Amino acid sequence: MSESLSDRAAAACLRAAVAAPSIHNTQPWRFRFDGGGFDVFGDPARRLEAIDPQHRGMYLSVGAAVCNLRLALAAEGWVSRLERGGPEGRAARVALAASREPDGSVRALAGAIARRRTNREPYDDAVIPDATLDALCRAGAAGGVRLVALDPVRRGAVLALTQAADAVQRADPRYQRELTAWTTGHADRRDGVPARVFGPRATTAALPLRDFGLDLPPKERGLARFERHPHLLVLHSRGDGRAEWLDAGRALQRVLLTAVVHGLAVQPMTQALEVPNLRRMLAAQDGRWFPQMILRVGYGRPVDTGPRRPLRDVLLPADGTSLPLRSTAFSRPPAATAGSRYRR
Ligand SMILES: Cc1cc2nc3c(=O)[nH]c(=O)nc-3n(C[C@H](O)[C@H](O)[C@H](O)COP(=O)(O)O)c2cc1C
Repeated sequence: MSESLSDRAAAACLRAAVAAPSIHNTQPWRFRFDGGGFDVFGDPARRLEAIDPQHRGMYLSVGAAVCNLRLALAAEGWVSRLERGGPEGRAARVALAASREPDGSVRALAGAIARRRTNREPYDDAVIPDATLDALCRAGAAGGVRLVALDPVRRGAVLALTQAADAVQRADPRYQRELTAWTTGHADRRDGVPARVFGPRATTAALPLRDFGLDLPPKERGLARFERHPHLLVLHSRGDGRAEWLDAGRALQRVLLTAVVHGLAVQPMTQALEVPNLRRMLAAQDGRWFPQMILRVGYGRPVDTGPRRPLRDVLLPADGTSLPLRSTAFSRPPAATAGSRYRR
């Protein structure tokens, strides 16, 4: 442990931060390191107008990155203090507070950051032990946030709402255009969802997973039998504003890393949360709790992760004098062109 965080350690912590999941792999975050801590910003230039006009998914993604950043700092021997909000539209500040030797659980979660990935493959029909589900729910429980494992009745309701949302989205040209923009482009693109991680299509419509290859001919996508009774988890928060989305994102990431530690695969499936009246129907089942994330969990074969942008693309100048509203480094993804399906 040292007196201050070296640039090399700061860069390692930022690499952990950007390994976080993000909606459509937009990586909608920017960071500024000033020696005493990190300012974390969302990146509105990377927001998804069709499915995330409120920026809820963006702040969940930023919250997941903040969780990774703090865990990586803790593994380096630094306790950090979190401040939500701040000037210039800052989402959060992670300030170095004290040094402390990391304990085993911090090491385990920090060690899981690089192994976590979204798994869109079929999972086994195996039952997840209650003790494991309890561990996930504990990881997702924090002030104002909770994670619920769905019983068969509620699972059926959530799947039905997801099916309805999926149909609404598929029929929406804005949704289609946005999805195409984040799933196509040149092969060395460092954001978006490449075809190699789309996963196969399910043989039945009973499991309405997001189809990232809507326009791909059937022969280019495998068909597979998915688990008959998917395990679904829903993350809720008490409020529904920017601070709560950030906290839900932090809790989400703790759940995802705990899943890695327990050998579980996870896939977010958030279509029902992106169609406002369907999200309201889901919320109505839970009184005063707002649904923030739906997760499918199970045991699956290892998969690859999506690409990440280099740190230079997400790092703001340390002098803090100005926040570039739209520098070239933070530009939108290249427009989709016919025949430019994005593979790596
Ligand atoms: C708010 C949010 C919503 C997401 N929704 C979905 C989804 O509906 N379907 C899906 O397969 N992945 C979903 N993802 C996962 C992202 O696509 C994934 O994190 C991203 O492509 C990066 O890949 P990785 O998680 O393997 O690093 C979501 C992630 C976040 C943070």
